[in-house]
Amino acid sequence: MRFSSELLEEIRNRCDIVDIISEYVPLKPAGKGFKALCPFHEEKTPSFMISTEKQLFHCFGCGEGGNVFNFVMKFEKVDFFESVKMLAKKAGVILPADEKKENLLYRQKERMYKLNSLTANYFREYLFRAPRGKKIINYLKKRGINDKTVEKYRLGYAPDKWDVLTNFLKKKGYSYEELIKAGLIKKSKIEGKYIDYFRDRIIFPIFNVQGKIIGFGGRVLDDSLPKYINSPETLIYNKGSNLYSLNFAKEDIRKKNRVIVVEGYTDILIVQQYGFNNGVASLGTALTTKQIELIKRFTDTVIIAYDADSAGNMATLRSLDLLIKAGLEIKVIALPQGNDPADFLIKKGNKAFQSLIDSSLSLMNYKLKLLYARHSINTIEGKVKIIKEILPTLNVIDNEVELRAQIKKISEELKLSEEAILIELKKYKRGSKEFAHSVIKPHSEPGNVTAEKILIGCMLEDKKIAQNVLKSLKVEDFTVLLHREIVSTIERLLKDDKEINSQKVIDCLDNDKAAKLISRILMEEVITFDEKVITGYINTVNNFKLVQEKKNLEKKAKILDEKIKKSEKIEENDLKELGEIAQQLKTRNMN
Ligand code: CTP
Ligand code: MN
Repeated sequence: MRFSSELLEEIRNRCDIVDIISEYVPLKPAGKGFKALCPFHEEKTPSFMISTEKQLFHCFGCGEGGNVFNFVMKFEKVDFFESVKMLAKKAGVILPADEKKENLLYRQKERMYKLNSLTANYFREYLFRAPRGKKIINYLKKRGINDKTVEKYRLGYAPDKWDVLTNFLKKKGYSYEELIKAGLIKKSKIEGKYIDYFRDRIIFPIFNVQGKIIGFGGRVLDDSLPKYINSPETLIYNKGSNLYSLNFAKEDIRKKNRVIVVEGYTDILIVQQYGFNNGVASLGTALTTKQIELIKRFTDTVIIAYDADSAGNMATLRSLDLLIKAGLEIKVIALPQGNDPADFLIKKGNKAFQSLIDSSLSLMNYKLKLLYARHSINTIEGKVKIIKEILPTLNVIDNEVELRAQIKKISEELKLSEEAILIELKKYKRGSKEFAHSVIKPHSEPGNVTAEKILIGCMLEDKKIAQNVLKSLKVEDFTVLLHREIVSTIERLLKDDKEINSQKVIDCLDNDKAAKLISRILMEEVITFDEKVITGYINTVNNFKLVQEKKNLEKKAKILDEKIKKSEKIEENDLKELGEIAQQLKTRNMN
């Protein structure tokens, strides 16, 4: 969906970039604008700059940049549409055009929630009504899940038939198409037939944080595979942005200022049943940044209670570094081998589980303990392996005091000098930084690329210059694809007789890379209005093109030449072409 440029302009006029960014990060005056510690990468000295005049921001450390919309997109992790909406709201600007669309989407979502709720009820009734339902209730009992929990989590049973749900929902007035979109039915192999998505499974309705049902998980009753199937992604269900049971847990998480994260459906049912009301489930996958953001709304301390196998697995633990990076405190519970939290609670009770929580280790110490058990701390080889595994976790510690303390501890335990660990950490940091910042490499950049950038900057700042540059250069003369996109947008705006400015061009492109590049060019203050200098840059770009073309011609000539030499027969056409090339090269050299 496109917003009119007038509307964007209106919002931008009312949302000064300095005001908006200052709501997120503390700013210090610097030159004609402000500077700050970049919110998008870790740094100790500010390289994040805001230009009041140009209404742009750019981080010269990590390369992020753009206008106020780009900032909100990045920071709030939303798309352009959302960022415009958020800023419009702040500015008190009404978005008339998308009200309708919003309403439609809202209505579709509401209808899907209702459909899911209806389906959950159907599954629930079926659990109590179907002959096989008794067996399932018994199975749940055997697993330690009591009636109250069955009720609270609205557990159900999906019929061991092909299409009873399909028919039921069809009769309620839902179309096949709609039911497919909701992930409740699917096309059968038989042409024109539809079947239920969940069949003969225990059903776990999945709630969102408000407690609305957004999807389902279904477990088999025996050992067949797959053990679980889950709803596909729909308009309202995205696995990675939800935490199962958060609707029940949120109050208690706030109250206790800590959340217990388990892996499975059954785990969380039991954890909550045993009174640990601040528990949620990740449903088997590594925590996503969306889920981490969700957690951060309620607490800053996370207790990981994964199955013993997962918590003993370095790869799983590695994914938890993200949580530290997000500023959360992480503790890991060590369950006995072969146990998950549900098994443990049922066998040992909640006091024992509570004491596991009380004796949980920080992620760092937990990892170290595992590593010390796995590698020898007395051999060089072992020490190297341990350090290598722990560097990513050291790397995410933001607090210098804490970092030094950790390094000191490790150095004592491994009998290594603190300096050696620090050097390794520096190397590691450099490696990851170089990787992250490889987008912009000003020093190794060829001259024509720099010339292209500066020309773009000048064109964005002055319509006349833009017109002049486009008289001498074509879009294709720019060698970098991104530059071509920007220049062709400028060309289009000129054709439509519109004003040229960086804000407009960023809006038109709707491309994150373009926003970064434009903010960088404009904020490096390399822009000039001197005609002679600009002509110089135009020549640089042109010359590069000519040299390139010349090289191509020479290459072609060489190939033809060799072909003629090798073959006995001389092709008339080849000779002719070679002659033409020679002529072209000659005129070129004269220029
Ligand atoms: N999972 C899944 N699909 C699978 C297997 C697992 O989505 N095929 C997810 C489920 O959310 C599951 C979680 O991963 O709850 C943990 O898996 P597992 O420990 O195997 O399942 P439990 O829920 O512990 O099931 P149970 O105790 O009944 O064996
Ligand atoms: Mn499990």
